[in-house]
Amino acid sequence: VPPVALDAFLDGARAALGAARVITDPDVVGPHATDWTGRWQGRPPAVLRPGSVADVAAVVVLARRHRIGLVPQGGNTGLVAGATPLGGEVVVDLRRLDALGPVDVAAAQVTVGAGATLAAVQIHVGSAGLAVGVDLGARDSATIGGMVATNAGGLHVVRHWTMRAQVLGVAAVLGRGDVVDLNPTGLVKDNTGYDLAGLLCGSEGTLGIITSVRLRLVPVPAERAAVLLGFASVADAVDALPRLRSVPGAQAIELVLADGVRLVAAHIDRRLPLDPLPDALVLLEVAGDRDPLGAVQAALDQLGSSVVATAAATEPAALAALWRWREAHPDAAAARGLVHKADVTVPLGGLAAFVAEVPAAVEAVAPGATTLVYGHLGDGNLHVNVIGPAADDSRAVDVVLELVLAQGGSVSAEHGVGRAKVAWMARQRGPAAVAAMRAVKGALDPDGILNPGAVLA
Ligand code: FAD
Ligand code: MLT
Ligand code: ZN
Repeated sequence: VPPVALDAFLDGARAALGAARVITDPDVVGPHATDWTGRWQGRPPAVLRPGSVADVAAVVVLARRHRIGLVPQGGNTGLVAGATPLGGEVVVDLRRLDALGPVDVAAAQVTVGAGATLAAVQIHVGSAGLAVGVDLGARDSATIGGMVATNAGGLHVVRHWTMRAQVLGVAAVLGRGDVVDLNPTGLVKDNTGYDLAGLLCGSEGTLGIITSVRLRLVPVPAERAAVLLGFASVADAVDALPRLRSVPGAQAIELVLADGVRLVAAHIDRRLPLDPLPDALVLLEVAGDRDPLGAVQAALDQLGSSVVATAAATEPAALAALWRWREAHPDAAAARGLVHKADVTVPLGGLAAFVAEVPAAVEAVAPGATTLVYGHLGDGNLHVNVIGPAADDSRAVDVVLELVLAQGGSVSAEHGVGRAKVAWMARQRGPAAVAAMRAVKGALDPDGILNPGAVLA
């Protein structure tokens, strides 16, 4: 961007938002420049902090006029560099748009600002006995806008599906600066034309800047129970899936492996949950209004001697302690060094073989690297984490993604494409689908100012 254009853009932004909302101080801009893993380092000249839909629209109009690339950013917890301004774009920090609308208990819906964190919305709707259907470990920082933009999955997909299934309406500023307010009253049925709100789900900031979301809510069951199940192998855990999925009220079926659990034990300074430690462990969580513990026990009885189990947790503190064995994996990995992330889906039939193949495949291109695998077993979604290679060495991730494509899987299960996986789009989706996506992008963002370089090269 020519300096003159940038200066004119920033002057316009100061006039529209107020000088205090246009930040160029490198110390404040710094944390917005890097992704959560620290692998991707951008160089934004400024961060803008709009506080209203009108502010966002003004920023987009100005960006169009001066041909400035904008990178929408929420909690900056994304794991594919989708919110990282690698090309020197200006960051638009949406966290001031954090209004929490009244909970519509009759409809089980709420409208919240795109910048509200998941945790804030959980507390807000929890007081009405309701919950958001998607939950994830980054809940304290991840925003609803970011979660819609990435179509986040998380821990409860086996019961409530991904973010797209929670979205009834979206308000957004599109690439021409026009504001759309799609289904603000949360009509459950509205078949008038294209599903534009659905299109914005998973669009990763490339089609519009989301300003608020009308969410469907789910009831909070009275009781919760969770247990860690130990299996001799990943194959045994996969074999148990049909039974685990059919446990009444099953809402999480999560996989961790022995080496990951050992790493977490050292990281959080706790004794191992099972001794001896089985190769594969599944965290099963069941929720319901009556006796979820009974449902867990019935599942254990059916699985018989193929499984060993920890004591079941039902109280909040015990549940949180059990969940730490799964949720602390990203932090424990990050504490070991710079992490290369491959978030993938593979068909369940090949999942155990894939887990067995990955470490050797990584070792071949990154000798001495540490490979950690964990994920959302119920969805066939594995997170492969590689620690060792330099930040700019993508060979380990590449080799993992090649295995995924060979198996008919997806190179991105729930984190999106961002900038990290752009090169894989054509092979994953095929030329006709990519061309259709380009046509949509061209129509909604004709000047290519919204998150340039993300999703589509
Ligand atoms: P950001 O990281 O700020 O942005 C992500 C993308 O959305 C970018 O492309 C950005 O441009 C775009 N964006 C952000 N806000 C807007 C907006 N208002 N309008 C338009 N575009 C926008 N993800 C899962 O799916 N499941 C998990 O279980 C999960 N667990 C995680 C655990 C940890 C510890 C961490 C660090 C991350 C995890 N994630 C998970 C990834 C991440 O939390 C999600 O992708 C989340 O949806 C990102 O939200 P955010 O507000 O941080 O978005
Ligand atoms: C998770 O499920 O823990 C996340 O998606 C984050 C990660 O991949 O590390
Ligand atoms: Zn995940």
